[in-house]
Amino acid sequence: MKVVLLGLLLATVFAIAVGELVQSTKDESVWWYAPSRKAPLYEHKYQGLRERLVRAAATQTVNMRLPREVLPSSYTIRLLPFIEEGNFTTDGYIEILVDCKVATTNISMNAAELDIKKESIQVVDIADSKQWDVEKFYDEQDPREIITINLKTPLVVGKTYKISMKFISYLNEDLRGFYRSTYVENNVNKYLAVSQMEAPDARRAFPCFDEPNMKATFTITVGRKTTMSAISNMPLKSDEPIPNMPGYVWNHFEPSVKMSSYLVAMMVSEFVSELSNPSLSPGVQFKIWARPSFRNQTKYSADIGPRILNDYVTKYFNIPFPLPKVDMAAIPDFAAGAMENWGLITYRETDLLYDEKRSSASAKQRVAIIIAHELAHQWFGNLVTMDWWNVIWLNEGFASYMEYPGTDYVEPGFEMNEQFTVTDLHYVFGIDALETSRPIDFEVNTPSQINQMFDAISYEKGSCIIRMCADFLGEPVFRRGVTSYLNKNAYGNTVQKDLWDALNTQAITENVQLPAPVETIMETWTRQMGYPVINISRLYDSTNSAVASQQRFLLRKNENSTDNNDYSWWVPLTYTSNFVDIRKHWMPSGSGVNVIQSLPGSSANWVIFNVGQEGYYRVIYDERNIEMIRNQLMTNHAAISKKNRAQILDDYLNMARSNLTTYVTAMELTRYLSHERDYAPWTAASVALDYIDIMLYGYPDEREWKNYMTVLVTALYDYVKYEASNSDAHLTVFTRSQAVSWACGRLNISNCITKANRDYHAWMADATKELQPNLRRLISCTAIAQGGRPEWQFGFNRYLDSTLANEKTELLRSITCSQDIGILNEMLEMMITSTSGIRLQDANTLFSNIAANPVGHGVALDFLTNRWDDIVAYFGSYEGFGGDAITRLFRALCNRVNTDEKLDKLIKLSTDHPTSFNSASARQGIELARTNVKWVQKHYDTIVNWLKSQNPAPEETTASSGTSPTTQSTVATTPSSATSTFVNHFVILMAAIATFTGF
Ligand code: BES
Ligand code: ZN
Repeated sequence: MKVVLLGLLLATVFAIAVGELVQSTKDESVWWYAPSRKAPLYEHKYQGLRERLVRAAATQTVNMRLPREVLPSSYTIRLLPFIEEGNFTTDGYIEILVDCKVATTNISMNAAELDIKKESIQVVDIADSKQWDVEKFYDEQDPREIITINLKTPLVVGKTYKISMKFISYLNEDLRGFYRSTYVENNVNKYLAVSQMEAPDARRAFPCFDEPNMKATFTITVGRKTTMSAISNMPLKSDEPIPNMPGYVWNHFEPSVKMSSYLVAMMVSEFVSELSNPSLSPGVQFKIWARPSFRNQTKYSADIGPRILNDYVTKYFNIPFPLPKVDMAAIPDFAAGAMENWGLITYRETDLLYDEKRSSASAKQRVAIIIAHELAHQWFGNLVTMDWWNVIWLNEGFASYMEYPGTDYVEPGFEMNEQFTVTDLHYVFGIDALETSRPIDFEVNTPSQINQMFDAISYEKGSCIIRMCADFLGEPVFRRGVTSYLNKNAYGNTVQKDLWDALNTQAITENVQLPAPVETIMETWTRQMGYPVINISRLYDSTNSAVASQQRFLLRKNENSTDNNDYSWWVPLTYTSNFVDIRKHWMPSGSGVNVIQSLPGSSANWVIFNVGQEGYYRVIYDERNIEMIRNQLMTNHAAISKKNRAQILDDYLNMARSNLTTYVTAMELTRYLSHERDYAPWTAASVALDYIDIMLYGYPDEREWKNYMTVLVTALYDYVKYEASNSDAHLTVFTRSQAVSWACGRLNISNCITKANRDYHAWMADATKELQPNLRRLISCTAIAQGGRPEWQFGFNRYLDSTLANEKTELLRSITCSQDIGILNEMLEMMITSTSGIRLQDANTLFSNIAANPVGHGVALDFLTNRWDDIVAYFGSYEGFGGDAITRLFRALCNRVNTDEKLDKLIKLSTDHPTSFNSASARQGIELARTNVKWVQKHYDTIVNWLKSQNPAPEETTASSGTSPTTQSTVATTPSSATSTFVNHFVILMAAIATFTGF
């Protein structure tokens, strides 16, 4: 309420704004927004922000950019936050030195939701201290967020001026700008003030030239109570009592290096810090900050942080870290996973803290990955920054690429290299195969558009094409090229051409033969969306050659498509027949058919293209070659590398979905999985088979499917077993989770169910008998699904009480596994009740997990339909990343729609509320649901006939006895039926892995 009042107050203050308020219309995103799995970002608690964003979105053609007539060189900022209930404001004062580039009477800069004291504004020529009279002051809020100081006489080119002013800002709960976060300690509410400036939110903390290429130095002073500490990008220079304010102290920090405004950071808190061993990073003091009760969870990051910085990233770039310290802080309320502010990196608690005994292996991996990512940004992003947000992929793609080797350096046992393709590549392949994908390099203007750039295309596709580029140049050449790019552009800004040119020069210097300049090759991957499928047709004659051609891979072709672009790419083909002799062939963009002479081996051997799946393309073979590959998989699959086994499964199961091959061919390839024990191929298969599992749910022959899957999964489950062993490799732990998620979650394999129930009940009986962390979520999910209210209640209580951030999220997911419609409805009610203990920012997790539960899907669909008005009222001011909260709930319902009946309900819901479903994302969801129903019509018989032709299935399965699609919703809500019995564990598992491991 207070916030709303303050909002009104600020709105009144902004009434001085000139310029029209633009008509309110709904945001029409122009591209399909698919969140990065790396950045489960932006569970923003936007308070009162929705209207503003709506107006902003309506004016995407408005020029949002600053005029560049004056440019900043240094800022002196003083902030005094009052972190107290009833106040929560910050007193601010700023001095900015600007150089005049073009004579002008107007100085424009960014400010948003700041109460600027107009009378305090001064503009002074620093050469002669002459003051320049201010004629008018304009404060344009939506959508431009630009203030303009209008002077009586023009500034003079070549001169430097000092602009100063006072302002007040509000320590908001929106998790952006300078905001407040809370936690409870010994039953007392504690508050801290912390900043989040990316993407364009520094303007919410202080007036500034908030564009990434307007770099300057920042000298920051922060006031604090003597009982608190204050930190910022740079080390403390001095502190002094604040005159006339007993109990308050100024902390003066050293001036920063030249940097972009989005990297400014400060935090005022009662946190404690853990100092890393100084010998781990000589010359750079490394500290981890957390709330006092979480101090014992900081050891892991205090150990690996300095080692990744000093021993890996610094050496990789071959450029010293320019700051004398790094602080890393765990923030209780945090929009993203982490933020790379130079010298003060902020994290969600789950992403920095780790408990050696109680956290899972995936939580540990997530911490390592995210630290590696943010430390890579200290160079790639902070030292050298993108010129504008259209090329944010340079930042995020590169940091995502570095997550793998960076983590591998400190945790070689994690086998990061084996994980890349199934986590980054296959994931983004699914998104980039949609007609409504977007090119990596994409024009953006408004803050809302900018925020949408932090998606799977920037992160995962970015990392994939960088990996491909490193592969064709050779990693050492690539690395030296990157170093020269960073050195050349240090403390400056770049466009992607700068990177391509540096890599090209390096390639020439080191005699790497390329068919075209790096820029020509790479722009085919960045300027157009999508990716190719390469068709390989072998000639089984004495030439042993092959004909290769490319076309864009689309999951489905929209009948009404107006896209007539001629998609084609420069493709670095690699191929082998034995994984020893690996050959290369460049397929030029627009080249039509390519002949590849003399393949390795003889025409009696298989050939596999895209070795290690280093390239961003799929491959389809002629019948005979894929038959040879299948025989190899059946007889000795180890002859094909793990990564390529994963590739073949992912390619073929997706190509069957898009009708490039048949499901018979694809399913035949899955038969060997009863011998497969490795993580990457199983992950690839699981994700693709998961789609079939969802589509066949509730249909008469679902049992055939469950029987087939039971054969495959039992073999894996018997091998990895339910019980953990101390000698388990890291990926064995992950593989076990997969086996258990199928065995317990969807196939009802009794051995698994019995053990999960046993362990959960032991925990209920004695809360000190904790579950094994790596299966905690799956075990709780199983027992809650199988059990009744006592099991659910116990899980819910543990969720409320948990002090281990990772465990809390795991339990939130587990309680959605209930198959009791009453309980599921209660949880949905809690989601829209502020006192329920389920925070607003967790609403989406709760709802989407219920929607992924076969029983819960219908319940969630009915809930959104029947409680529409109440839900809209509750979420009123709540926005989510990439679309409003309601659209995201709606989207979560689309995936499991596989009958006409559910499709009709979904469409009715959207047509009943047309203005709420007018976004590309909602339309896409409906299209996906329609495609699902079509998929069933087209592929059901083929798959069922194939399944029936397989060996008789074992008796043990308790899979669904099936029912006709028309009675689907009854099945879905009847607990006794089969796999309906409970949640689709695997979907949740993948979501959890996504959250915890940065997949
Ligand atoms: N720079 C981002 C965080 C960010 C993105 C803040 C968009 C504000 C808007 C950061 O480097 C990042 O990418 N974080 C990821 C970490 C992950 C990829 C390991 C995140 O937050 O999930
Ligand atoms: Zn990042």
